[in-house]
Amino acid sequence: LSQSPDGAPIFSVTARTPTNIAVIKYWGKRDEALILPLNSSLSVTLDPNDLAATTTVAISPAFEEDKLWLNGKEVSISDSVRYQNCLRAVRERAQGIEAGGEKASQEQLRSWRIHVASRNNFPTAAGLASSAAGFACLVFSLAQLLGVTEERPGDLSAIARLGSGSACRSLYGGFVRWNMGQASDGHDSIAEQVAGEEHWPDLRVLVAVVNDRQKDTSSTAGMQQSVRTSPLLLHRAKAVVPERMVAMERAIAARDFQAFGALTMADSNQFHATCLDTSPPIFYMNDASRQVIGLVEQWNAQAGEIKAAYTFDAGPNAVLFCLEADRGALLRRLLYHFPPSDSTPLNEYVESAELLKEASVSSADDIRDLPAPEISKEAKPGLQFPGELKYIMSTRVGMGPQVCEKPLEPLLLDARTGFPP
Ligand code: DP6
Repeated sequence: LSQSPDGAPIFSVTARTPTNIAVIKYWGKRDEALILPLNSSLSVTLDPNDLAATTTVAISPAFEEDKLWLNGKEVSISDSVRYQNCLRAVRERAQGIEAGGEKASQEQLRSWRIHVASRNNFPTAAGLASSAAGFACLVFSLAQLLGVTEERPGDLSAIARLGSGSACRSLYGGFVRWNMGQASDGHDSIAEQVAGEEHWPDLRVLVAVVNDRQKDTSSTAGMQQSVRTSPLLLHRAKAVVPERMVAMERAIAARDFQAFGALTMADSNQFHATCLDTSPPIFYMNDASRQVIGLVEQWNAQAGEIKAAYTFDAGPNAVLFCLEADRGALLRRLLYHFPPSDSTPLNEYVESAELLKEASVSSADDIRDLPAPEISKEAKPGLQFPGELKYIMSTRVGMGPQVCEKPLEPLLLDARTGFPP
């Protein structure tokens, strides 16, 4: 709680919310307005210390209109039905609140205007999905601000879903299922945690961010085209995903990396096959993406087991899963095939010193001296593609949304004005 210059109270909350990567993909809606999917999906929440949205929401009788700032730039709320829908749905459920001796009644909370400012802790230019974390953070922090509690578990995830389908899965840490649901009003199309973030401690994630020159088709537009034109999509939703969901949950429960990895790669490949099956076809992966697939497949074939598993969303970046013991070896393979360009310092290409140590690499010379990875006799020798990746980041399974108790540095909204500083 703070006070505006003319003495009006300003209530505010700041929260941080993770991104997630789907291992069984959501692609296609049965209802565009309510964002109801054609199939259930399952994701891994990524550590918010590495990839997250941070949002401050504030409410005050001093504010004249609802306002939104994304990564420092003001964005019009009236132009975004999705923001309006989320805002309205949380506001409708407002209860009274009390903070620092000031009270706000239900009626006041439902009529006062709201300011929202959000930023990501990773570069938007990296092309990593940010709408999931952003909408989940908006809904989570607004619910805290307006004293909204869930009547049924998953209610808030159903509101985040109105912002972006994949956002509903970012309301939980660990491993999360989005149940497609049956109801036409969407109340049962909610996310649910299937295992917590501590469940699989040695699971690791590397993200290979690809140097991309072209703008991708948005997920929203891409899946609309697929629903309209791809016969494979419907087959996938009806006949493939239901069994895969069961098998994936079983693999996660058993921490069975072989099954988890095989399902993850198969489902990513089928999602991209439905994109190719769309008319006109959509290509999210590029040459660098396919080269990453090649190196992972070669390693797995040579090892006779799954050492690493890839998955790609609606863009060319590769998200790679492996077990802790294999992470150094995975990075060595990535660095052999994708050395940084001459102008990229190693500590910017791979920020984590710990990870470089695991791979026994400490300089650009070490990368040049890497021996060609062992591959099976039938495979073609590995080619090298310097400069094709922007950088490689490492992360792991992470926790769900958290209220930030300490003031942010720099602040998103000034406590005394309710505007960005
Ligand atoms: C390929 O959630 O971004 O990442 O619901 O239209 O906002 P909208 O789409 P969005 O789609 C994500 C698609 C995906 C797969 C996934 O995350 O499950």
